[in-house]
Amino acid sequence: MEMNIALLPGDGIGPEVIDQAVKVVKAIGQKFGHNITFTEAVVGAAAIDATGEPYPDATHEIAEAADAVLFGAIGDPKYDNDPKAKVRPEQGLLLMRQKLGLFANVRPTFTFPSLVHKSPLKLDRVDGVDLVFFRELTGGIYFGEPRGRNEQGTKAFDTNVYSKFEIVRLARMGFEAAQKRRKLLTCVDKANVMATSRLWRETVQELAPEYPDVKVEYEFVDAVAMRLIQWPKAYDVLITENLFGDILTDEASVISGSMGLMPSASLGISNKLFEPIHGSYPQAAGKDIANPLATVLSAAMMFDYAFDLKEESKMISDVVNQSLEEGYVTEDIADGGTAYKTSEVGDWLAWKILT
Ligand code: IPM
Ligand code: MN
Repeated sequence: MEMNIALLPGDGIGPEVIDQAVKVVKAIGQKFGHNITFTEAVVGAAAIDATGEPYPDATHEIAEAADAVLFGAIGDPKYDNDPKAKVRPEQGLLLMRQKLGLFANVRPTFTFPSLVHKSPLKLDRVDGVDLVFFRELTGGIYFGEPRGRNEQGTKAFDTNVYSKFEIVRLARMGFEAAQKRRKLLTCVDKANVMATSRLWRETVQELAPEYPDVKVEYEFVDAVAMRLIQWPKAYDVLITENLFGDILTDEASVISGSMGLMPSASLGISNKLFEPIHGSYPQAAGKDIANPLATVLSAAMMFDYAFDLKEESKMISDVVNQSLEEGYVTEDIADGGTAYKTSEVGDWLAWKILT
């Protein structure tokens, strides 16, 4: 297969972890006979430094033309404590999501047998957790208008808005995913308080009869925040709006003990982007110590979601599992054993694929 992949390494450890994913993707290409080309572009603080814009048009053109985008991380501490900064790296990410129409953010939480003992929760609660969030990504309070301040600057406001079609397209993805999994869908909302949430709930209720094999549960977001750590195995597929999904997926990403190891996909009508859930980890930038596995697993998701190549995807997850079992890992999960460099882990994974 011909594959044209855009690489957007971004900031901090982004470039290092993307390098490892590229090694792995190249190895898969070689093994399975795919012809893969990579085109690189800047985004985030790196883009502001280079062009003054967090998501330059040139980057958008490359991302839009690609079959898939592999994205590293965004964010630089020099912008964090300056609330008056006019351009912020994070705007690059939001603009990219919006301009590429990436309306569904797929964030799984699963366990690795060799890491599950590191969970902050009791082993019986997390062993075997396997859930996935479908977070709406281009609507809601992240983008709603009006937003801003009054003239005196003494009042600030954001607006949460959802149109029915935005809920329908996200919910359908959730239903379809549930049909391929354990057939349970949880609609996460705050329908006891918010009008947008009531539209979510009503819309999902209308769609449910089209998916008779899927059991649908409706749960308030505050209760989900609680039950997610009490009994995460209660969940299979969860669908929710942008802000709730932002918060809950951070919570979910650490319960399996694999902090920083979870991948994600952002899907649109034609564009697809894959990125690790973790951030830019600026303290580690350039040190060759960051864990590349979340980005490598995002590449695994790419083969599955962008190219429907399940075997390639599974081979990547398998070698990642092997590296964990054999302790060929970076310092964050070395557990007192030998800690390998970011680049060494990437080399090892690529070598495993090719041998
Ligand atoms: C995420 C991040 C972003 C978000 C930030 C960096 C804008 O937290 O991808 O979850 O809030 O969506
Ligand atoms: Mn977030």
